[in-house]
Amino acid sequence: MKVVSIINYKGGVGKTTITANLSAEMASRGKRVLVIDLDPQTNLTFSFMKVEDWSKQFEKDKTIKYWFDSIIDGTKPVPSFSELIVKKRNVDIICSHLGLIDVDIELAAGLSAGTDRQHRRNFIKTYSYIKNELERIKESYDVVIFDCPPNFSIVTKNALIASDFYIVPAKMDYLSTLGINQLRNHVERLVKMYNEYAENEESRINPTFLGVIATMISVRNGAPISAQQTYVNALKRNGITLFDSMIRENKTAYASAPEYGIPVVLQSFSSGTTYDEVVSELTQLTTEFVRKVGV
Ligand SMILES: Nc1ncnc2c1ncn2[C@@H]1O[C@H](COP(=O)(O)OP(=O)(O)OP(=O)(O)O)[C@@H](O)[C@H]1O
Ligand SMILES: [Mg+2]
Repeated sequence: MKVVSIINYKGGVGKTTITANLSAEMASRGKRVLVIDLDPQTNLTFSFMKVEDWSKQFEKDKTIKYWFDSIIDGTKPVPSFSELIVKKRNVDIICSHLGLIDVDIELAAGLSAGTDRQHRRNFIKTYSYIKNELERIKESYDVVIFDCPPNFSIVTKNALIASDFYIVPAKMDYLSTLGINQLRNHVERLVKMYNEYAENEESRINPTFLGVIATMISVRNGAPISAQQTYVNALKRNGITLFDSMIRENKTAYASAPEYGIPVVLQSFSSGTTYDEVVSELTQLTTEFVRKVGV
């Protein structure tokens, strides 16, 4: 089982769209895929199911918030991830919930402690919840993907610490490319501290940066427009790996899906080469992802 975080502090860069499409396409290729929505905005959850269905069937006790609440609460049994899973289009999903925001505040309270030793112990405990739980289901999946929120919360850090790899979708503009280095530095710092605190060799972690996925690219004559190509080149010059596959901007294909709850990559569009290009980019991205992650 390989575990991958899709992460960027910057909002609206296509993290959720990429997660939904990668997971749906891999599942359609026969991979056993689990996606976990860690964003209180619940966008990934609602790209697979209707809000009403979620409210009726899953809101109460089948979300990642419920799982964290059970841990924090300490009085009710903590469900295993397998009890939280919802199946949609061959993808297993653990849904999110707006209340996940509060979970972070409560987890933070658990971090404060008196002595150095207590601090270390609480640090490892608080940041390893998801990592430890994934151990229990590692035979059941080929790949687990986290759709991370646009922040570096304790929940996001839990995902990174549980991950073998992380991938950063980014727009190709000045501020977005600056943010990539910042994010990588923060991840490195977190990993260093975790490994310092880890009790033994086996519990050390090494989430590996797998690359940037350039998203919302404006394509002209088969290539990114020059303003964006400049940033692609700058990243490469600075030794930052990029996926070969890029995702073009196409508001119609991504925003107004003809059929609800079906990721773009699985939709059969009746018209036009632009949609074919969108779908083919997503299938190519999936192929590259499968190869790089080793699923
Ligand atoms: N390639 C694309 N072309 C056009 N629109 C896109 C593309 N990818 C995503 N979008 C749209 O842009 C918006 C933001 O995308 P998405 O939700 O995937 O970003 P995100 O990084 O997950 O955002 P957040 O940080 O808020 O979680 C959505 O409305 C989505 O439909
Ligand atoms: Mg998102």
